[in-house]
Amino acid sequence: MPRTIVITGASDGIGAAAARQLHEAGERVVVVGRSSEKTGAMASELGVDGLVADFAELAQVRALAATLLARYPRIDVLANNAGGIMGERRVTVDGFEQTFQVNHLAGFLLTNLLLDRLSESGASVIQTSSEASRSFARFDIDDLQGERRYSAGGAYGNAKLANLLFTKELHRRRSRAGVNAVAFHPGVIGSGFAGTSRGVIRWFYTSRLTRPLLDSHEVGGSRLTWLALGTPGVDWEPGAYYAKNRIARTTAAASDPVLAKRLWDESAAMVGLSGASGPRPDASG
Ligand SMILES: NC(=O)c1ccc[n+]([C@@H]2O[C@H](COP(=O)([O-])OP(=O)(O)OC[C@H]3O[C@@H](n4cnc5c(N)ncnc54)[C@H](OP(=O)(O)O)[C@@H]3O)[C@@H](O)[C@H]2O)c1
Repeated sequence: MPRTIVITGASDGIGAAAARQLHEAGERVVVVGRSSEKTGAMASELGVDGLVADFAELAQVRALAATLLARYPRIDVLANNAGGIMGERRVTVDGFEQTFQVNHLAGFLLTNLLLDRLSESGASVIQTSSEASRSFARFDIDDLQGERRYSAGGAYGNAKLANLLFTKELHRRRSRAGVNAVAFHPGVIGSGFAGTSRGVIRWFYTSRLTRPLLDSHEVGGSRLTWLALGTPGVDWEPGAYYAKNRIARTTAAASDPVLAKRLWDESAAMVGLSGASGPRPDASG
C-alpha cells in the first residue's frame, strides 16, 4: 500500500526532485509549495494533491496543518524541506526574522500541529538541514531573531543548526511515541535557494563559472528520497544527521541537549504552543 509523504518546498529544486522520485516509487506524495503556480504545475504533473502555504506567515502554516489533518488519516513521512538563504534582515508579519521563521519555526509549528497524527502513523520526520549549520552558524540562543548580529549567511547557518537541534529534541521527546526524526544535508545543489541572497553566496549559486561544482536537483532529492523510503532503525538511525546517506559530523552545539530543549521551549512559546495545548513530551520537559 502506498504511504502518504508530505513534502514542503516541493514546488522546486530538491523537494520537487524528491517528489518525482517518490511518486515514481509508487508512494502517495503531497506537494506543498509557496507559489500557487509552481505548486499547481508540480501537482498536475504528478496527478497528486498540491497545497500552498507561505511560511513567512504562520497563519498559513496553521491552515496547511488543518487541511492535512482533514484530508489524510495517515501521514507516514513529513519532510520539512522548505527554506533558503534570504538577503536583508526582514521581520515577518508574525514578528520573527524571516530566515529563522521560514527554515525553522514554520516547520516546527507544522510538525507540532501534526504530532498526534505523525505518532499514530509511526512517521518519519525529515529536516532538510545543511553543512551551513557547521560553516556559517554563530548560534546565539539569546538572539534568535538576529537583532544584535545579522548576516544572511549567519542567519541561514543558525536556522539550519536549529533544524538539527529540533531533530534531536523531537527524537528525545517523541521517539517512544513512534516518531522517527532525522536530518540531512542534500549536497551542494544548483537550485534557486540563494536567489534572494546577496554577495558571494548568491554568486556561487548563480554563476556559470561555478556550475560544474554544483550537483543536480535529482542528486539532492535522492538523499531525501533515501530517508523517506528507508526504514528507521534499520536503514538509518533516528535522531541522527546524514550527508551522502551516511551519518555526518556535527558541531558540539548541534548535539547539545540543553540547547535543544531551550530552542524547543523558546520556539513553542513563539508559536503559542507552550501552554496546556502544547506538545506532550515522552519524558521530563
Ligand atoms: N541547494 C543547496 O545547495 C542546499 C544545500 C543545503 C540545504 N539546502 C536546503 O534544501 C532545501 C530546499 O532548497 P532547494 O535547494 O531545493 O531550493 P529551491 O529550489 O529554491 O526550493 C526551495 C523550496 O522552498 C520553498 N520556499 C521558499 N520559501 C518559502 C516560504 N516562505 N514558504 C513556503 N515555501 C517556501 C520554495 O517554494 P516556491 O518555489 O513555491 O516559492 C521551494 O519549493 C532548503 O531548506 C535549503 O535550505 C539546499
